[in-house]
Amino acid sequence: MQCDRLWKNARLATLAGDGLGLVEDGLVAAHDGRIVFAGATAEAPSINADETIDCDGRWVTPGLVDCHTHIVYGGNRAHEFELRLAGASYEEIARAGGGIVSTMRATRAATEEELVASALPRVDTLIAEGVTTLEIKSGYGLDTAAEMKSLRAARRIGEVRPLSVKTTFLGAHALPPEAKGDKDAYIAVVCDEMLPAVVKAGLADAVDGFCEGIAFTPQQIERVFEAAKAKGLRVRLHAEQLSNLHGASLAARYNALSADHLEHIDETGVKALAQAGTVAVLLPGAFYFVRETHKPSVDLLRQHGVKIALASDSNPGTSPLTSLLLAMNMGATLFRLTVDECLAGVTREAARALGCLDDVGTLEAGKWCDLAIWDIERPAELVYRMGFNPLHARVWRGR
Ligand code: NIG
Ligand code: FE
Repeated sequence: MQCDRLWKNARLATLAGDGLGLVEDGLVAAHDGRIVFAGATAEAPSINADETIDCDGRWVTPGLVDCHTHIVYGGNRAHEFELRLAGASYEEIARAGGGIVSTMRATRAATEEELVASALPRVDTLIAEGVTTLEIKSGYGLDTAAEMKSLRAARRIGEVRPLSVKTTFLGAHALPPEAKGDKDAYIAVVCDEMLPAVVKAGLADAVDGFCEGIAFTPQQIERVFEAAKAKGLRVRLHAEQLSNLHGASLAARYNALSADHLEHIDETGVKALAQAGTVAVLLPGAFYFVRETHKPSVDLLRQHGVKIALASDSNPGTSPLTSLLLAMNMGATLFRLTVDECLAGVTREAARALGCLDDVGTLEAGKWCDLAIWDIERPAELVYRMGFNPLHARVWRGR
C-alpha cells in the first residue's frame, strides 16, 4: 500500500465502535488527507510511505471536535460577570436588556474582518488543544445583515486556519429591541427573510434555536424547524437549559441532530431523544459559569442509550471557555461522566452531533486524517488535569 504519511509506534484510541478502541502498538497511514489504515501494527498491510513519523509510543486520538460554540461575537461581557458576582442572575440581566442583546449591539457594530480577528485568538486556543473540527453558531446579529456577516466570519475562520468549520444559523436566539416585544413577528422574519437569505448564500450547515422563557416558545421554535425542514436543513436546539419547556421532545420530533444543555430534561424528553437518535450535547462550562445547580440526568441518558457529546459552548455570556480539555474535566467532575464518555463526547459523539461522523470523529479508514498526538501515559490524563495542555502535535487532513 502506498501512502503520503505514516505515524508509527503509536498507542491509539481509535474511538471506533462503542468504546475507546484502544490499540497498544499501532499505526496510522494517510493518503490524500484521508486515513487508509489505522490499527494494530501486527495487522497492518505492508505500507510504503513518502514520510514516516515516529510517535515514540505517544497516544494518538482523533482530532477533537467542538460541536457547540458561539465563538464569533463582538465585545465581551466581563461587566455582566461583575454584576452577577454582585448578586444579579443571568436571567435578570437578560430581562433588563443585557445578556445576548448586549453582545448583539457589539456584534452589529463590528465589521466581518473585526469579528474574524476577535474570534481567532479563541479559535487558536482550541486548535492548540487538538481541535480539528469546530461548529460556530450565529445568533448575535439578530437581523439579516448581521446574521449573514457573522456566518461569513465563521466560514472565513475555516479558510484562514487548518480547521473544518461547520456553521449553524441561530436567528431564533433572542429578541432584538427593534422587534418591540413581538416575538411572533420576529420569528416570521427569521423564517421568511433571514433563513432564505442564509441558505441562498450557502452560509448554514444546520439551524438552531433557543427554547426558553427568556427566548422562544416551543410553538415559535416549531415554525423555525418547519422552515429549516422546507430548506432541507437539519436542526438542533438549546433545550431545557434553565427550565423544562419540553424542547427535547420537540427537537426529537424534527429528527434533530442534537439537543443541547438539557439540565432540566425529564424522562419523557430522554426517551424521545433515544427514539430519534438525537445526540445529547452537555455543556458543563455553562452549567458551571451560571452556577446552575440542576444537573442533566446522565443516568437517564445512559439508561435509554442516548449518545452524549460534550462541548465548550464558547460564548461571552454563559461560557467564556476555550478548552475542550477543561470541558471534559468538568463533565467528569460535575456530571460524573466516565473518562470513556468524556473522550467519546469530544470526538465520535460530537461528530455525530454535527452529522459528520462519516468524515471525522474516529480513526478509521476513509475518514479525514485528523489526529491529536499527546504526551500522556494513559487517556484518563486528558480528563484528569485542569489547565494543562499535553498536546504534542496536531494533524488536520493528513498534515
Ligand atoms: O448556549 N443559551 C443560549 N445561548 C448561549 C448563551 C448566550 C449568551 O448569553 O450570550 C448558551 O448558553
Ligand atoms: Fe449555546
